[in-house]
Amino acid sequence: MRDYSRQVLSGEGDNDYARYMRTDALLSLQRRPEEMVHRDELLFQIVHQSTELWLKLACSEIREATARIQDGELDGATTLLARASLAMELVTSQLEMMRHLSPWDFQTIRTVLGHGSGADSPGWLSVRRDTRTLGRTFAALVEERGIDLDGMYRAERKDEIYRLAEALIEWDERVSLWRVRHYKVAARVIGHQVTGTQGTPVETLTKLIAHRFFPELWQIRTHLTETGPMADPYTDSVQGGSL
Ligand code: HEM
Repeated sequence: MRDYSRQVLSGEGDNDYARYMRTDALLSLQRRPEEMVHRDELLFQIVHQSTELWLKLACSEIREATARIQDGELDGATTLLARASLAMELVTSQLEMMRHLSPWDFQTIRTVLGHGSGADSPGWLSVRRDTRTLGRTFAALVEERGIDLDGMYRAERKDEIYRLAEALIEWDERVSLWRVRHYKVAARVIGHQVTGTQGTPVETLTKLIAHRFFPELWQIRTHLTETGPMADPYTDSVQGGSL
């Protein structure tokens, strides 16, 4: 009979779970209680560190999706983009934990952050870089195949490029929703009209919310509204001041 109490993997740790998951290293990455100026540093570090891990996964999927688009495997790319979007949804949810940070307690935590800011987050830098590459790759596909986006969005039969375009929109929207939540968290914890640990005013974060990685896919929606069956009445009502 198999002896399940025996460890079969090599590596650090008392058992195979610890050896494969590298839990000893992982759980030593947070400041020890004796190093902390406030016990909520654990909450603060874990939200940031787990965000880095989820974004590592999200960006790996974004890069692979980009490669699949280049290889013409569009449905495969769409599936991977859905995973990246779910990872972004998860990191947005975990921002909720910051609601448990008292604004005054956070002032103590701030004293040990130096100039450290999420603006230097490797995960977020990678989100920006990899999404730009993804956008260029999608634009090249549209050009190469001579796709008319307007026609594609109006067509009854939705093909694989349509599904891919909607997966791109989903990702773009998820990034933006994280930014909405992050701005609200920052304002709740440190207030408005103040600057962060890198000297950027909290209000500046609102401008990033409107940023779009794939403007042509957003623009097509505006175009459909402007030219769709309701175009005239809609325009009239906007001019009349009632929406
Ligand atoms: C108490 C919680 C938080 C506060 C008060 C806060 C505050 C701020 C402020 C004021 C900025 C502007 C730059 C600066 O001067 O620092 C900023 C930027 C940023 N923060 Fe946070 N933050 C918090 C949590 C987080 C978390 C959990 C992450 C996840 C990694 C994060 C990621 C970012 C990113 C990526 C930026 C660059 C702006 C952007 O791309 O939207 N922040 N944050």
